[in-house]
Amino acid sequence: MSRSANFRSEFLPLSRPTLGEEEIQEVVNTLRSGWITTGPKVALFENKFRDYLGVPEAVAVSSGTAGLHLALLAAGVGPGDEVITSSMTFAATANAIVLCGARPVLVDCDSDTLNIDLDGMKARINSRTKAVVPVHFAGQPCAMDEIVEIAGRHGVLIIEDAAHALGTEYKGRKIGTIGDLTMFSFHPIKTITTGEGGMVVTRNKDWAERLRLLRFHGITTSAWERQAGGRSAQYSIELPGFKYTMMDIQAAIGIHQMDKLDWFVEQRAKLAHMYRLACADVQGLKPLGLVPYPQRHAWHLFVVQLELERLTIGRDRFLELLKERNVGTGIHFPALHLQPYYQEKWGYRNGDCPHAERASHRILSLPLFPKMSEKDVQDVVQTVAVVLGEHLK
Ligand SMILES: Cc1ncc(COP(=O)(O)O)c(C=O)c1O
Repeated sequence: MSRSANFRSEFLPLSRPTLGEEEIQEVVNTLRSGWITTGPKVALFENKFRDYLGVPEAVAVSSGTAGLHLALLAAGVGPGDEVITSSMTFAATANAIVLCGARPVLVDCDSDTLNIDLDGMKARINSRTKAVVPVHFAGQPCAMDEIVEIAGRHGVLIIEDAAHALGTEYKGRKIGTIGDLTMFSFHPIKTITTGEGGMVVTRNKDWAERLRLLRFHGITTSAWERQAGGRSAQYSIELPGFKYTMMDIQAAIGIHQMDKLDWFVEQRAKLAHMYRLACADVQGLKPLGLVPYPQRHAWHLFVVQLELERLTIGRDRFLELLKERNVGTGIHFPALHLQPYYQEKWGYRNGDCPHAERASHRILSLPLFPKMSEKDVQDVVQTVAVVLGEHLK
């Protein structure tokens, strides 16, 4: 294909939420109902979420980040503890560990899937390790049998960062049913959205109770329970909690997104399959590898790695060229251990996590959302192929 190849005339974003009339009407009804903050819609959303996963406890919060912060606190993570996670994740994962007063222990990822490296995890477990936080990168499950075995052997908790993994299954088990506590995110780019929002699920009733206290100032009853649930106007404060509640306006979106969740995942999987087939013929890039065990990939992201040795441009220039040709992209993620805060405060150095570093400079996420068309995928791959073709060594 030549420089004169036809590129898209309209910008294709990395992601776009799929919202229908159901969500819009529910939000409007909520706005008209007289109750817009945490109340009956949040309770309904939590119920639907519990039913979908088949878990006893689901606690809705204001964001995935808030969920992770509370999950760690509920599990008792605090000063003097160490928590192991992957360097190949979003800031929220490690920041939440730091905000609990614990040490974030960042380990390398697998070079092909970008999920946490199990040998790295094992090597860093010691008597101070309180928990491991596996991140199901891009929606592909980590090797949970091995992680459960390692954590069990060392008496360490598993707090899953499943921000990317609503709808993901590991060997036929839904993510959210395996670890001690699991956090999901409903940011607009995620499998389902509530605008912003998150959910923490667990089998442990005491932790769930603590999550509920922590999300609302440490107060024993919610405002809705006091207004509509026949509870007294009195309340007691059990601990200094946060204001991490989800509003009914958000849950109004979520309850309809739950009905569409499986369709969203199927659509994403279909598009990802098209991408994989089309990318097989493109010189200069490689999609991430697939894990060797049975899984259902939620395809939160379609990530490819550039073969920089074969190219005359770097990743960032490549992203600019795609943008000029109306293709949106993202970088998920720059390795955390290279970030100034983690280097200055926690002593991480270049070279500590070689696979994460290598990926940091090579990865990009291509557009992927349920309402994308086959033609959109073809446009993206054609644009990618032409731009790479013009910059092959
Ligand atoms: C791996 C990971 N963890 C945590 C989060 C935080 O979720 P939220 O944006 O809902 O706070 C994100 C969000 O992008 C993420 O990608």
